[in-house]
Amino acid sequence: MKGFHGGNIYEAAKKTRKDPSEIIDFSASINPLAPPPGLEQNLLQKLPLAKSYPDISTSEIVNLLAETHNCSTHQIIVSNGSTEIIYLLPHALGIRSAIIVSPSFSEYENALSLARSSVVLAQAPEANGFQPDKDFLSFYLEQMRVDAVILSNPNSPAGVLLDPETLNRILFMSKSMGALVVLDEVFIDFYENNSFKNLINHHRNLLIIRSLTKFYGLAGFRLGYALAPPMIISALRKHQPPWSVNTLAQYAGIYCLKQNDFKEKTLKFIENERQRLTEKIEKMDGFSVLPSDTNFLLIKLSSELPPASHLQEFLLNRGLLIRDCSSFPGLGSHFFRICIRKPDENDQLVTYLHRYVSLI
Ligand SMILES: Cc1ncc(COP(=O)(O)O)c(C=O)c1O
Repeated sequence: MKGFHGGNIYEAAKKTRKDPSEIIDFSASINPLAPPPGLEQNLLQKLPLAKSYPDISTSEIVNLLAETHNCSTHQIIVSNGSTEIIYLLPHALGIRSAIIVSPSFSEYENALSLARSSVVLAQAPEANGFQPDKDFLSFYLEQMRVDAVILSNPNSPAGVLLDPETLNRILFMSKSMGALVVLDEVFIDFYENNSFKNLINHHRNLLIIRSLTKFYGLAGFRLGYALAPPMIISALRKHQPPWSVNTLAQYAGIYCLKQNDFKEKTLKFIENERQRLTEKIEKMDGFSVLPSDTNFLLIKLSSELPPASHLQEFLLNRGLLIRDCSSFPGLGSHFFRICIRKPDENDQLVTYLHRYVSLI
């Protein structure tokens, strides 16, 4: 299963002859408490509207996002998952060359390659949680002229927040060469205070990518958005196909963004459960958990153990899907990623990890 995205429960189910609903998915990093209670009922009421075209201007959800993030409606575009924005970038903004801080979400490279743009992967150091430190990108930015620099806050698959000083340096260096900075914040809802969203008011070369997939569990609805200065947003809008965000996705987003209790509950839950699960896994010989600021953990297996693909296979045969990270450039064969799920599911995973170690 090398090279595929997390969350492919359909392929996992086919492989193990199970129903997709029987797979416990630790690979897609979706909030285990999601979706917020009441969503289903709310959408049932909206279902009759699906016979008409969606609101082409997405105005209700854009207004709500503007209120939520304290920005103008001209600074927001809503999309068919944040992946749609990623694929709009090269054409809408004329990105012919880019530096991608690696390891990261593979669709940045795929989208740029498909548009025949050139890509340089800048491998960030493991010692810094695979995030660039303040001097790391200077080397690249002094040597080459590119149209965009792409990085994440927190990054994936490590889950580490970006240091503000580093981002400021990248923004200023990029601005002087006319390059756009694309900052992927699809996991920042778990640490909203550490978002750099306010910087879009001060830097005309900053685009922030966000999503309702992870925190609100809307992966199957496809709902993402970008925050950026109005010029960038209007260029993206011109290239976006009409009605790309369907009616139910728009209403699901509107409902979810208003659920403040759900938000509070999630933040407390993830914080506690991440600590509990980290401690349990850390106690096991051969497993080291990298520090994480979000709802998933990157785990390194000792070189004496078989590669992560072997563990993935073992767990999948027991109905648990983890993300073998060997397809992330530079990570090698011994890293895997799990998301924080409900306590009984996390305990089940730990039990199987113990069994795995005792069997090999
Ligand atoms: C870092 C990162 N960015 C963006 C995405 C795309 O998410 P979506 O298109 O569901 O909004 C993902 C999905 O896994 C991701 O991990």
